[in-house]
Amino acid sequence: MVRRAHAFRPATIGQVIPDPLSADCSPGPLPAGVVTAGRHGPLPSHLLPETAEVDGLGRLRIGGLDVLDLAEELGTPVFIYDEEHLRRRCRESRQAFGPRVAYASKAFLCRAMAALAHEEGCCVDVSTGGELAVALAAGVPAERLVLHGNNKSVAELEAALEAGVGRIVVDSFDEIDRLSVLSGRRNGAGRRPRVLVRVTPGVEAHTHEYVMTGQDDSKFGFGLASGDASRAVERLRHLSSGVQLVGVHAHIGSQIFALEAYERALSVLVPFFNQLELEELCIGGGLGVAYVTGETAPSITEWAQVLRQAAGAAGIADLNVLSAEPGRSIVATAGLTCYTAGTIKHLPGLRTYVSVDGGMSDNPRPVLYGSGYEAFLPREVTAPRPRVVTVVGKHCESGDVLVRDACVPEDLSVGDVLATPVTGAYGHSMASNYNKVPRPPVVFVKDGRRRVVVRRETYSDLLALEA
Ligand SMILES: Cc1ncc(COP(=O)(O)O)c(C=O)c1O
Repeated sequence: MVRRAHAFRPATIGQVIPDPLSADCSPGPLPAGVVTAGRHGPLPSHLLPETAEVDGLGRLRIGGLDVLDLAEELGTPVFIYDEEHLRRRCRESRQAFGPRVAYASKAFLCRAMAALAHEEGCCVDVSTGGELAVALAAGVPAERLVLHGNNKSVAELEAALEAGVGRIVVDSFDEIDRLSVLSGRRNGAGRRPRVLVRVTPGVEAHTHEYVMTGQDDSKFGFGLASGDASRAVERLRHLSSGVQLVGVHAHIGSQIFALEAYERALSVLVPFFNQLELEELCIGGGLGVAYVTGETAPSITEWAQVLRQAAGAAGIADLNVLSAEPGRSIVATAGLTCYTAGTIKHLPGLRTYVSVDGGMSDNPRPVLYGSGYEAFLPREVTAPRPRVVTVVGKHCESGDVLVRDACVPEDLSVGDVLATPVTGAYGHSMASNYNKVPRPPVVFVKDGRRRVVVRRETYSDLLALEA
């Protein structure tokens, strides 16, 4: 029974989240974007989706629904997304960057998400034939799609040309050759593909090396400093059968808090762009989000303001040419994952392992990038979390760690639903079937209603592809 629900208030940038117990278990230097704060207090509200509330019993509600009821009904693990939060971030992006802004669907894609982004006025960025197929199946008009990829196959390019994809971001000289042959083969059928040339501006963003993409040594794009970017522009302009060069694109990396990296990128991109007289300069995605206590991140609106100022300072003639492709900043905080704690193993003097019913197959980020997460109990969201445990998955790997030093309430027990917040980006989309663990379902909640947008995989699904 809901006695009284109160909404969480989001934190502002740079704000240190108050911690009632103020014990700090995060020693050592903190990466950019982190402000010091204790970690044993209740989960900071800004790590939860925007419609999150706590009822009179201390239980978490999202989209007007009780999270524990959802976990009971749908089973665990389960990804729960706040649909209103997703919609607000898409609207904010559209407002900040205008009609060319694209939701980077690699962060999280299913038909419902693609349709939602389109309904809220965003284009959809796809980076493989598979993402293209899902976005088209969702009813997103091809004209509103942007195709990326450092190794687009002939089949993927053909599918994009056939569908009439709005923009193709060209990444290599081999791709220019393929486009040339393909558009020649089409012999004038359909309209000339509109392309952007992807440029590496030679900027190193402060983020994990696996998600840094703006430096000269990169598998993506054409180097500015090497002259490859200029050569690519020349070749695209002289393609006999013709593509239409409409813009310049750069993406310097992901999970970036220090916006100076964008300022540096724009200071070299704008002079290059200005010579070309094109209609679009896309700065890609990459805005960081807060994952753990003490972190705060700029909003999409603030990011856009910094980009506009930097582009202006670099001499851009018309700020309306500036566009972007946010992924993580739209979906990350909208989602959380609920697991069930199955075993709790206390190793005296070492650590306590809490094993849950998912793991690296539904969230590979901790294993891939050493990413940090929080954990909490949806049955007592505002409880202090004095106990430090290691939350691990059920996979046959010692590295299958979800949260290395998770602060949890004292009374965490076997059978509890344990949640990790901020799992809306690069969780479900990077999920695997390692150890033949079926992928969890995805449920959207809004205004007291829920809709399962991706069902749970079954053992039959696991066998479906075998001959
Ligand atoms: C070309 C491109 N655009 C946009 C994005 C989205 O980045 P993020 O999710 O960090 O906003 C990515 C992510 O890798 C990307 O490669």
